[in-house]
Amino acid sequence: MAPVKLSPNAALEPMTPESAQVLGPAVAAIDPWARHQYPASRLSTYLAMMEPDAPRFAIRAGEDLAGAMVVRFNWLRGPYLQFLGILPAYQNRGIGRFAVAWMEAEARARDDKNLWVAASGFNVSAIKFYQREGFKQVADLENLVSAGETELLFRKRL
Ligand SMILES: CC(C)(COP(=O)(O)OP(=O)(O)OC[C@H]1O[C@@H](n2cnc3c(N)ncnc32)[C@H](O)[C@@H]1OP(=O)(O)O)[C@@H](O)C(=O)NCCC(=O)NCCS
Repeated sequence: MAPVKLSPNAALEPMTPESAQVLGPAVAAIDPWARHQYPASRLSTYLAMMEPDAPRFAIRAGEDLAGAMVVRFNWLRGPYLQFLGILPAYQNRGIGRFAVAWMEAEARARDDKNLWVAASGFNVSAIKFYQREGFKQVADLENLVSAGETELLFRKRL
C-alpha cells in the first residue's frame, strides 16, 4: 500500500519491522499500555505482525514517526480500531482525528454501518476523544485486559 496522506503534515504508511522496533518501546512508555504493563517487546512484535484483515500502520508527522494504528476490518459489520497510539509530542495536532476519519472513509467505502473501538475505563482523555468523534459507549468489559480494570466498548453508527 502506498502511504496515505491524512493531512498536509501527517501520513499513514505500512508498518515495517524497523518502525515497529522504535514504536513498541515508545508506546509501552505511555498509558494505557504502561498502566497495563505491556512489555515493549510484545508491543513491537504485535505492531510488526502481518495480518491481512488487520493492517498495521506507522503514522508519520513529516519525516518523524508519530504513532501507530491497527484497524481490524470486517469485525462486526464494520471495522474495529484495535490500536491507536499517537506519541505525546504529536498529540493534540489533529492526527488522531484524521486517523479516525480515514478509518470511517474506508468503512463507508465498504458500505459498513459501524465503527468500533475499546478504551480502558481509566483512559479519560481517549474516552473524551472518541465521544467527540461520535462514538457511544455500548458495553463494559470487566477484567478483559488487566484484573480490576474495565474496558469500555464504543460504537459509532454510520
Ligand atoms: C487519544 C489520542 C488517540 C487522540 O489523538 P490526538 O492526535 O492527540 O487527538 P487530536 O489532536 O485529533 O484531537 C485532540 C484535540 O486536539 C484538537 N486539535 C485538532 N487539530 C488541532 C491542531 N491542528 N492543533 C491543535 N489542536 C488540534 C482537537 O480539536 C481536539 O481538541 P478538543 O479537545 O478541543 O476536541 C491520542 O492522544 C493518544 O494516542 N493518546 C495516548 C494513547 C491512547 O490513549 N490511545 C487510545 C487507546 S484506546
